[in-house]
Amino acid sequence: MSENGARESITVTDNRTGQSYEMPVTDGTVKAMDFRKIKTANDDFGLMVYDPAFTNTASCRSAITQIDGDRGILEYRGYPIEQLAEQSTYLETAYLLLYGELPNKKQLSEWTEIVRIHTYIHENAKKFMEGFQYDAHPMGMLCGTVAALSTFYPDAKHVMEETSRHIQTVRLIAKMPTIAAFTYRHNRGLPYVYPDNSLTYTGNFLSMLWRMSEPVYQPHPKLERAIEILWILHADHEQNCSTNAMRAVGSSHADPYSATAAAAAALYGPLHGGANEAVIRMLEGIGDKKHIPEFVKRVKQGEDLLWGFGHRIYKSYDPRAKIIKQAADDVFEITGPNPMLEIALELERIALEDEYFIERKLYPNVDFYSGIIYQALGFPVDMFPVLFAIPRTAGWLAQWREMLADSEQKIARPRQIYVGQKRRDFVPMDKR
Ligand code: CMC
Repeated sequence: MSENGARESITVTDNRTGQSYEMPVTDGTVKAMDFRKIKTANDDFGLMVYDPAFTNTASCRSAITQIDGDRGILEYRGYPIEQLAEQSTYLETAYLLLYGELPNKKQLSEWTEIVRIHTYIHENAKKFMEGFQYDAHPMGMLCGTVAALSTFYPDAKHVMEETSRHIQTVRLIAKMPTIAAFTYRHNRGLPYVYPDNSLTYTGNFLSMLWRMSEPVYQPHPKLERAIEILWILHADHEQNCSTNAMRAVGSSHADPYSATAAAAAALYGPLHGGANEAVIRMLEGIGDKKHIPEFVKRVKQGEDLLWGFGHRIYKSYDPRAKIIKQAADDVFEITGPNPMLEIALELERIALEDEYFIERKLYPNVDFYSGIIYQALGFPVDMFPVLFAIPRTAGWLAQWREMLADSEQKIARPRQIYVGQKRRDFVPMDKR
């Protein structure tokens, strides 16, 4: 019963038979399986629900990340993203996502230490990476290498054992920056730099990217912090395309390296984590503020997309985009301004005043400004989705662990509406 005494249910009347069915409403949701009892005859399969792209289907119960898309709110385990971005570190946030609570001092120190001592990758994995073409896309290298890690850790297939899940989680969080940095060095024809475990998680990443002949690389603390903030913002985002891939692949009890590789592959696409790359290409294509009205016209005619705008869930300003915009100033103070920023700010201003974008509630998303920062930091655009995949690994693994522990979950296996040919007989070659 609800507070006003009404029953927490809906009644559906099937006009084909005149029969009514009462279905419970729990957490604002009806169970799709309840529709199966709606039949026109005993041998009828029962009603299915049709929801291409899951636009109105909750696929799980989750206690990890909450988004209120209308109000622009994002929380990890109940903590507002703004507070985490200001006060936390990426590793602490990863722990929070994975284990549900902020670590105390001892837990954080143990967690940092165990991640720190797993940053190296097997020499054969390094050799595997050396086999890629000199100009291979870093995201392709990352997906391939993460999948290949499963061959180094056969114990990873014991997904129902917590000890195995924990160590694979640690390995993945620890090794993602190493693999990512190796892809960068590979593209530049530079020797791979081994992890320097005297540095922080993000500082070590910068060292593996940029260290040359100096014995110890000293990352700029402000740049290190900027990366930290970007990675906190990207750490999880509930049931997005790549997380859905992680859960779907993981639901068959595949090992977490294979599932993470699949999630990273989903992230690669320009409609998801590849959008930050697409934003820079768009801004470079616009080239000058004076070309913005012409570009916006093309978008409105459906000839292009305004990359970095729009979101399935946010129908107001993406809170991550707000934080990134602030972090950008700190970065530009050190690196000098990115000329793309001026075009981006003007593009945002024009779009936010335009009826097309207002009507559709299209606002900048996380990727509108992240690429501009990454470019100012010196990353080539090809690296942007990789920079997204590193932190999202914490979210993928948290969601994977939650899925495995959820007794309501089974192997992910949607239904379809078959629209193909009716049964027909095989036609021999000479009769076709
Ligand atoms: N530029 C122009 N029009 C747009 C855009 C855009 N970026 N995004 C949506 N629309 C239009 C779309 O054409 C549709 O118009 P109409 O109703 O006239 O057909 C309307 O807005 C609703 O859009 P939708 O495609 O039904 O929305 P969706 O929820 O299926 O797609 C999206 C969400 C993020 C894929 C889409 O907004 C998009 O393609 N944006 C550009 C790519 C991008 O920035 N992706 C990064 C997302 S945030 C990072 C992440 O988590 O991956």
